[in-house]
Amino acid sequence: MTSLAVRKTAALELLKHIAEQYAPAVFASSLAAEDMVLTDLILQHKLAITIFTLETGRLHAETLGMLSTIKDKYDYQVQTFKPETLAIENYVKQNGLNGFYDSVELRKECCRIRKLEPLNRALAGNQSWVTGQRRAQSTTRSELAQQEDDAAHGMQKFNPLADWSEEEVWQYLKTEAVPYNPLHDQGYPSIGCEPCTRAIEPGEDVRAGRWWWENPESKECGLHVVDGKLIRIKSV
Ligand code: ADX
Ligand code: SF4
Repeated sequence: MTSLAVRKTAALELLKHIAEQYAPAVFASSLAAEDMVLTDLILQHKLAITIFTLETGRLHAETLGMLSTIKDKYDYQVQTFKPETLAIENYVKQNGLNGFYDSVELRKECCRIRKLEPLNRALAGNQSWVTGQRRAQSTTRSELAQQEDDAAHGMQKFNPLADWSEEEVWQYLKTEAVPYNPLHDQGYPSIGCEPCTRAIEPGEDVRAGRWWWENPESKECGLHVVDGKLIRIKSV
């Protein structure tokens, strides 16, 4: 088997294991490339894993467009979780709509309101969650395991693509004819909220366009490190 075929079989086996042994299970999709690989595996094989996205209110139109692209191709409606209106109003009143450019603290506070609080609602009542993180994506992910004990949420967390390369992700999307966010063809390997994501230049790191004004060490929104309570337990 090619290395992609091996990776694909392993990811599918892990997703089946999650659906069977860690139900109810949910998949957090940012609608970007890695997450389309997992979306395709879950929906083509009709696995019992519910897909949701955190609709922050600051996503690109192209990213939001993926919701209807997925509906058209798979006849599946991705669930959306939105931030609390009052919390957004207070933040904007105190710090301005784009206050996150002013300090790491204000950036993290915006991510807390627009992503972390909705994430808590999305995860509530489930036993496990799945993400599209890969080790090669950043220095903060170099130790990423396929299965983690997410003590902060009291659940198991799975990263089935942990050891996939960027090339393998794209090989999968192309060979399986999976639709993807058109921004990827415009210099955006990593896509988050519109005001916090820019295109990268050739040779730049894949996450160089995320919160580009900050140091690499602070470039996480908190979705994946919660109060330092996430414990790596093993590779599955
Ligand atoms: S982030 O932490 O820097 O924003 P990144 O964009 O690399 O994360 O995505 C890593 C994983 O986090 C994705 O594969 C997905 O599982 C989850 N994720 C990121 N953004 C969202 C979102 N808006 N909605 C749901 N899941 C997300
Ligand atoms: Fe706010 Fe930017 Fe974080 Fe999105 S990525 S929640 S706009 S700070």
